Amino acid sequence: MASLTIRKLDDALKKRLRLRAAQNGRSMEDEARTILRRAAGEDVRAEAQAGKRRGARRSTTEQPEPAPGAGGKRALLIIGGGIAAYKSLDLIRRLRERGAAVRCILTAAAQQFITPLAAGALAGGRVFTDLFDAATELDVGHIRLARETDLVIVAPATADLMAKMAGGHADDLATAVLLATDRPVLIAPAMNPHMWEHAATRRNLVQLAADGVSVIGPNAGEMAEAGEAGTGRMAEPLEIVAAAWTFLGVAGGDQVLAGARVVVTSGPTHEPIDPVRYIANRSSGKQGHAIAAAAAAAGAEVTLVSGPVTLPDPVGVRTIRVETAQDMLAAVTKALPADVGVFAAAVADWRVEKPTASKIKKQDGGTPKLGLVENPDILATVARRNSGRPKLVVGFAAETDHLIEHAREKLKRKGCDWIVANDVSAGSGVMGGDRNTVHLVTADSVESWPPQSKEAVARALVARIGAALAGAPR
Ligand SMILES: Cc1cc2nc3c(=O)[nH]c(=O)nc-3n(C[C@H](O)[C@H](O)[C@H](O)COP(=O)(O)O)c2cc1C
Repeated sequence: MASLTIRKLDDALKKRLRLRAAQNGRSMEDEARTILRRAAGEDVRAEAQAGKRRGARRSTTEQPEPAPGAGGKRALLIIGGGIAAYKSLDLIRRLRERGAAVRCILTAAAQQFITPLAAGALAGGRVFTDLFDAATELDVGHIRLARETDLVIVAPATADLMAKMAGGHADDLATAVLLATDRPVLIAPAMNPHMWEHAATRRNLVQLAADGVSVIGPNAGEMAEAGEAGTGRMAEPLEIVAAAWTFLGVAGGDQVLAGARVVVTSGPTHEPIDPVRYIANRSSGKQGHAIAAAAAAAGAEVTLVSGPVTLPDPVGVRTIRVETAQDMLAAVTKALPADVGVFAAAVADWRVEKPTASKIKKQDGGTPKLGLVENPDILATVARRNSGRPKLVVGFAAETDHLIEHAREKLKRKGCDWIVANDVSAGSGVMGGDRNTVHLVTADSVESWPPQSKEAVARALVARIGAALAGAPR
């Protein structure tokens, strides 16, 4: 090809060419050649060959849009500055193993824990670190990074990164991308248990959930710091991949409930006494929410009917929030038909017969008499339906004594298929805690599972449900 003299082009044309070249990550000369080739009707192969030659000369800043992986999906992984950053290297591998193309952003703090070189080697491409890097901005730019993906994953999501996200900060590449993206965002928090429990982090979590951010974990267990244990460990890479897959909607993981409809109840109910007071119980909703999340990760279409809890809505789950047992029954009935019903909510047995419309005043020398009436039995109502009964109905029994005996009796009385029995006596730490020791009670067997996190109980239960639906013996 004859040499091109860009200098001799008129100014308006030069300006347009410069813009196009910048947008396509090419030199002005290369851009002009591309335009001429296309005009001359050369085929796509010539363009690809030119691309290869360009690639050989390409500066390290050039970065084409990631081709979707074999699974046809792209993930943008933002790695924050926490000790769990090393697990995110494995996360990159796991995502790519399942066919997703992965782009990575490392915050400045993340680079204190892992290197862009390691992340880039595993991702198979350049890693992005700077907002104010002229080459990056001209080439890919934070807006393209924010858009050229199907899902943004933040792992580890540090307390600081969560606070910045909740506050809408955008003073580095990670936060600017998070503010600019219109794609689903999944965060995997990881931090010291005290940081996780801190009122500021709780506030930020509630804000992020309200902003539509999905959360996976953190799990309970030993922390990296010697002698520290509690909730704050980042979810395991495979758990994050399973949650990510509910967004990416591609086959992978153990999709044991693919195509199944599942209804789960979770949390306590609040039964009003007057406009400001109510009867409640100590259920946190952690077990029920974990089951809903695990069922969604296993490919089910999940409706979660939740009483008042402070937990974020699980990833990929339709969550309906209710207050009272009567509301919960109405929402469950509306969510049917389903293949499976898992009733993990701690529904109040009684409600106040006549809640007052105005606040009950303290009276000298007397206490108000609260007349109680029985609440509807949601588990029994669903289990005994003549038409539209789920194929598998699983109840929970929270007992303080004679656990198995009471669970067996409950199984019969309610007409359900399985009971998951757990000891909630004072000191067991189950109510509101992160671990659970359960017994799976069926018509003809009792299986005692080892103490484990509520997420692990949820995964094990979902695996059993999957096997039951597939025809394995219950
Ligand atoms: C050794 C070490 C480990 C840390 N681990 C965590 C952690 O696990 N989670 C966290 O939220 N912050 C952790 N921090 C504090 C963060 O690094 C710090 O808040 C940083 O500003 C977070 O940056 P980011 O917003 O880019 O994630 C750790 C700090 C040090 C020195």
